[in-house]
Amino acid sequence: MLVVLKQNAKEVGQEAARIVAGAVRSNPSIVLGLATGSTPLGMYEGLVSLHKNSGLDFSKATSFNLDEYLGLAPENPQSFHYFMHSNFFSQVNFSSERVHIPSGALRSNYSEYCERYENEIRKAGGIDLQVLGIGRNGHIGFNEPNSSLASRTRLKELTQETIEDNRRFFPQGEEIPECAITMGIGTILDARRILILATGKSKADAVAKAIEGPISSSVSASALQLHPDVIFILDEDAASTLTQRDYYRRVLELTKKYTPEKLA
Ligand code: PGA
Repeated sequence: MLVVLKQNAKEVGQEAARIVAGAVRSNPSIVLGLATGSTPLGMYEGLVSLHKNSGLDFSKATSFNLDEYLGLAPENPQSFHYFMHSNFFSQVNFSSERVHIPSGALRSNYSEYCERYENEIRKAGGIDLQVLGIGRNGHIGFNEPNSSLASRTRLKELTQETIEDNRRFFPQGEEIPECAITMGIGTILDARRILILATGKSKADAVAKAIEGPISSSVSASALQLHPDVIFILDEDAASTLTQRDYYRRVLELTKKYTPEKLA
């Protein structure tokens, strides 16, 4: 696990965009796992700008999004379909038939649908690079606390904390989704490489538990300790309760010296 410490949210977005862009350049047919939320916005901005100004080419890439709220149609501005379209896909040259986002419009046969989503990922050759955010409760995707560390794509009930965190995005009076379709922790751990971003004080506790705490289903992100190729990119606030910050800085310098390919 590598921990990259940045000063602020802007730098976190830029570093994530740099790594994703490098991965796309070295493998144009890359399969990306993508995340929504406020944290990766800077990364998408960076990627859009690299596409527009430096010709970063997504035409052969494939993507699978982590999750979607159940009950939201793609044209609902709060849906992750809408988020991905407006912040990324409409501004780059991704081919729409290679974009996959779980459907929020399902009314039945959830497990069949989720199995098909898993099959699509397998058929595409698996995810090469998965981007993640982290919730205040340590969730990745919508794998809420006590999700099985072996879970696969499925319908997941949201915790009250997540529902409250999301309330700010929904117009007053509008019903806030109670469930989501989300990749499982097992699905995420199958990715060849994982990039997880966190910014702000409200994430500090979850980040510290994920990186320095025991592996536990009560903090889904702690399962990333089981993965051999994870990079955490954190701003000062999100990293503020980590106890080994000096060591992580030293590891990063030594990585740049001895194994720079890990950061390429
Ligand atoms: P956020 O969400 O980026 O909007 O904070 C992250 C998450 O809940 O996974």
